[in-house]
Amino acid sequence: MSINWAQRKVEGKSFIERFTRKRFIHDGSDGSVYQWENKTTGELVAVKDSKPSRAHKNSNEIIRYLNVPAHENIIGFLGYLGVRDWTPAGPALIFEYCEYGDAYEYRHYMVRQEARVPEISIWKFMRDVSLGLDWIHNHCEHSYVLGDLKPENVLVFPEQDWDKQAPPLLPTFKICDFGRMEISDTVNKFNGTVEFGPPMAERNMVQTCKADVFSLGSTIQWLAFGVFPQMSNEEFIEYAKDKHARLITLSELRDNRREQWRVFIPPKYRPLNASMEEQREIWGLKYPQPPFSNLLNGWYKKLCEEDPAIRIGSDVLAEFFVPVADLEIERLKAARSLAAATGENQEAETIIVDEEDDVLTRGLGGIAL
Ligand SMILES: Nc1ncnc2c1ncn2[C@@H]1O[C@H](COP(=O)(O)OP(=O)(O)OP(=O)(O)O)[C@@H](O)[C@H]1O
Ligand SMILES: [Mg+2]
Repeated sequence: MSINWAQRKVEGKSFIERFTRKRFIHDGSDGSVYQWENKTTGELVAVKDSKPSRAHKNSNEIIRYLNVPAHENIIGFLGYLGVRDWTPAGPALIFEYCEYGDAYEYRHYMVRQEARVPEISIWKFMRDVSLGLDWIHNHCEHSYVLGDLKPENVLVFPEQDWDKQAPPLLPTFKICDFGRMEISDTVNKFNGTVEFGPPMAERNMVQTCKADVFSLGSTIQWLAFGVFPQMSNEEFIEYAKDKHARLITLSELRDNRREQWRVFIPPKYRPLNASMEEQREIWGLKYPQPPFSNLLNGWYKKLCEEDPAIRIGSDVLAEFFVPVADLEIERLKAARSLAAATGENQEAETIIVDEEDDVLTRGLGGIAL
């Protein structure tokens, strides 16, 4: 027996009768995510529980999902289990299940397979997330600011004809986690993950949709280079000394001692089209990548504009960037097919990746330079 999701509120008893808990997915500060399977139909869903003291966060999130109509680039919200109706603590959110995981994991698999996230997949990521943002910013009852866009909050759904041999090149990317979503212009402070947050001045201002656009740029920088889109440790030490007369040592920025400083580290733009030498010498990247195209960089740069008044909006991205991305994706797809047929190296030179560093970043989103 399946559940009529159209009713949105699902009775705990009826859910337990039909579904069994299959697999743990994630344990977060506010609750956990598990995979559940329908006993008869095999339908898979993800259930996000609350921690008893954090139930209000899930309640807010449910209200947001109920107010945002379904969209291709936003995780499918199926329904919820009530506050008093779910153990250990309600309410819980029920989502379509994403087999492949989030964009953090996606980068990890891509780096193993192709040495980096290929340009074509970055176009697809920027295209899909732009459309998801445009939806919540401009097409719902209110204009919403997501407030916490980062790799872990974008899920990866492989394309229909995915052959499972390699990570999906052109998956559908969907925004998940409305846990920090607010109506635009109603909160006075950025409350998301600081590594992907807007410029410092904007963090203590009323939050607008432009903050999400900046976080999209930061997330793309992370996908491309695997580093936090912030000043490197050395740059931050100099900045703290010059601007705030504060002496910080490198060891204070490592491991759990970093916690006390991370909120103070400003974001940093790094161009995607810099040569490998420039990446190493000017941008301080330990593992340079063959440069991405000028065209991709031109659009990415518009996301990273310091001044929110000048920064591109998701409405403009949907109108003007998405058609360009669609054409570029087709062109790169054809070029990859041709290269595969002729046995040429498709996009990148081989890059040596330090596995140790990659593992160290789990849960934070990048290498601290
Ligand atoms: N529908 C889903 N299918 C598969 N995995 C999911 C799904 N929803 C969430 N996840 C995984 O669970 C993780 C946490 O989910 P989510 O971001 O909604 O919770 P959270 O409240 O942000 O957790 P945290 O407190 O750690 O920030 C995601 O980063 C993703 O890896
Ligand atoms: Mg999250």
